[in-house]
Amino acid sequence: MVTLDLIIKNASVLIATDSPQGRIEIQEVQTHIGVKDGKIRYIGNENHPAAQIIDGKGLHLLPGIIDSQVHFREPGMIQKEDLGTGTAAAALGGVTSIFEMPNTNPPTTNQELHADKLRRAAEKAWVNHAFYIGASHENVAELAELEKIPYCPGIKIFMGSSTGSLLVEDDPTLEKIFRQGFRRLIFHSEDEERLRERKHIAVESKDVRNHPIWRDELTALRSTERLIALAEKTKRPAHVLHVTTAEEMALLKQKKNKKFGLISVEVLPQHLTLAAPECYERLGTLAQQNPPIRDQRHQDALWKAVLDGTVDVMGSDHAPHTLEEKKREYPSSPSGVPGVQTMLPIMLDHVHQGRLPLTRLVELLCENPRHVFGCKSKGRIELGLDADLTLVDLKKTRTIENKWIASRCGWTPFDGMKVTGWPIMTIINGTPVMQDNQLLGTPRGRPVEFQF
Ligand code: DOR
Repeated sequence: MVTLDLIIKNASVLIATDSPQGRIEIQEVQTHIGVKDGKIRYIGNENHPAAQIIDGKGLHLLPGIIDSQVHFREPGMIQKEDLGTGTAAAALGGVTSIFEMPNTNPPTTNQELHADKLRRAAEKAWVNHAFYIGASHENVAELAELEKIPYCPGIKIFMGSSTGSLLVEDDPTLEKIFRQGFRRLIFHSEDEERLRERKHIAVESKDVRNHPIWRDELTALRSTERLIALAEKTKRPAHVLHVTTAEEMALLKQKKNKKFGLISVEVLPQHLTLAAPECYERLGTLAQQNPPIRDQRHQDALWKAVLDGTVDVMGSDHAPHTLEEKKREYPSSPSGVPGVQTMLPIMLDHVHQGRLPLTRLVELLCENPRHVFGCKSKGRIELGLDADLTLVDLKKTRTIENKWIASRCGWTPFDGMKVTGWPIMTIINGTPVMQDNQLLGTPRGRPVEFQF
């Protein structure tokens, strides 16, 4: 009998299978999971010898959590975050793979800058990683080549300006981008023209409670309508990041033709957990992000879309800024909140509160990112795939506190929130890198491969 490197025994394991009808089914199965050479090599109830044995009794073993939207700040803004601190935060939060956005300084708009991020990550990333390429007016003609770079989840397009300089706001250039290449395009969807027209609302009032009024429903809806029209016209798939409005969800539900088809949709834990005006009154600019946190009507519509299958993926949109920067008077205060470390605990608490089945959470954080981005060997507990695993205790109650946050910015909008459900261990390529809130060993993240 072959000796395994690691076996996790007696946990309730979340296993996805493809049914003969082409449906994906996720089930909780009591079984042991064995790992050898970084891969899942055994699923069953026999007692295999193993160098390391982990008792998972009473715990749940999930496929490693994929956070497909994080903004780390290396290069250029490492006073907020670098690839070491950002990925340490990920590992502590039970996340095994991150896909990082291109709005660093300089922005990741060519192969050299992408290779530079990979080199930096090779030295200090605690979790597996991939880096988006950013679209700009200057690199449109190269995007068909750039999207084929290994370890790139896709091309990111900011249709409305947010943090950083990346912006492609006009339909003619967007159409050119749609016609360059074939992989799914990834969108920050806010209409730049309307943002400019209405910026005076923020500037004149200096009141962060007006953030969702400046960047209103129509700002989001118009842009999403435009990108869907271009996706339909060019038959090129598009992924709409951090959808925040009831109006967009109604449209997306109607337009989505099939699972992992032309249009895919992301939501964030922040938009499902915080609501205006309370969050702005309590947190001020710490709740400021783009697109904004909106009122309860929108939050209810997002939850409905999570439960009816309109939403495919959940990401954190981890966007650290220092407290000093956040203290500037609105709207000079930067938009964005950290979230890679809190995403799983916040969502496990929603599971605990009965708002979301655990199997659906596994779809949003593991199985669906695997399909939407075409991950070669992530997102599922299956023989032969990478042994990225997240062990969680659904009954553990803990208070999220700033002092737990490993991100260089050192704060979270969820400071003081009591949650039930907590990551106990993060396993990367077969090796535990976090156990009981402590990092173990040295950084050993590897680049994530995609098929397209
Ligand atoms: O609030 C945001 N902050 N939204 C984004 O799209 C970018 C992010 C950042 O990088 O700070």
